[in-house]
Amino acid sequence: MAKIFVTRKIPEVGILNLEKAGHTVVVSEKDGVLEREELVSVLKENNPDAVLCLLTDKIDGEIFAAAPQAKIFASYSVGFGHMDLDAAEEHGVTLTNTPGVLTDTVAEHTIAMMLSITSRITEGDRFMRDGKYEGWGPMMLLGTDLKGKTLGILGAGRIGSRVAEIAKKGLGMSIMYYDIKESDFLNSELDAEFRKEIEDVLTESDVISVHVPLLDSTRGLINMERLSSMKNSAYLINSSRGPIIDENALVMALKNKVIKGAALDVYEKEPALASGLIELENVVITPHIASATEETRGKMSDMAAKNIIAFLNGETPPNAVEKK
Ligand code: GLV
Repeated sequence: MAKIFVTRKIPEVGILNLEKAGHTVVVSEKDGVLEREELVSVLKENNPDAVLCLLTDKIDGEIFAAAPQAKIFASYSVGFGHMDLDAAEEHGVTLTNTPGVLTDTVAEHTIAMMLSITSRITEGDRFMRDGKYEGWGPMMLLGTDLKGKTLGILGAGRIGSRVAEIAKKGLGMSIMYYDIKESDFLNSELDAEFRKEIEDVLTESDVISVHVPLLDSTRGLINMERLSSMKNSAYLINSSRGPIIDENALVMALKNKVIKGAALDVYEKEPALASGLIELENVVITPHIASATEETRGKMSDMAAKNIIAFLNGETPPNAVEKK
């Protein structure tokens, strides 16, 4: 029987599974993110055998040292940019994530964001609530059609591929994509065009959707130069990780009409937003909720728990994060 520390309240299915497997579960009592010193001290105090952490926890050598018994940190997230893979290796810690279960949910949210910005849904909603609606107008809040337009996918993993599939089959868009390798699914099922150079996708697409993971090589991938290479009529969507886009550059680009609009679910320094972002009309912003459905969050909780249970049973957890 092991002691598991959970850094924040999560859907109870995973907690119940851990308890059913005979483990003791301690869930952080704080309503919100534990500050770094709080996390260190609560880990020292509990000395857990495993930790179930979240993407809001920065997991690195100091954290591993504070919980020396815990040789597994299972994150309740698909992204793992918040965990230091080198430090984990040094401390002999296995890291896991929750891939797959949130693919459809994040893809659906991404499509919702794309439609919201191109059909001006949130802008129209604000307009109504502000009491500005005085009747139908032939030139009022004109949006942009998507059928026949090109969606550029940056990162053709699970989520990027599903977004491409919905856009192609549901909206009649053409797909172009950039990745380090070609995707058979995108090429053969969606008739997508692969581009070796990210610039080609940026210059040729009408909408760009970001799906690369946050790595040293993808931090700041979309900078001012790359934003400037996009069409003035293009939109940028990001449901991956904030630091992939230089957010100050994006604000400038949106202000100066370098691109037409953006829809973001993630932010470079979240929860803080780049100065000026919130004042812009041509941006849709959601609070990092792309995977936030009841069904999916339950599956993520279950999956994180299963990774811990397998590890504590001496098995290789199903979703160990590999250092590439
Ligand atoms: C959400 O952003 C996740 O990584 O699960």
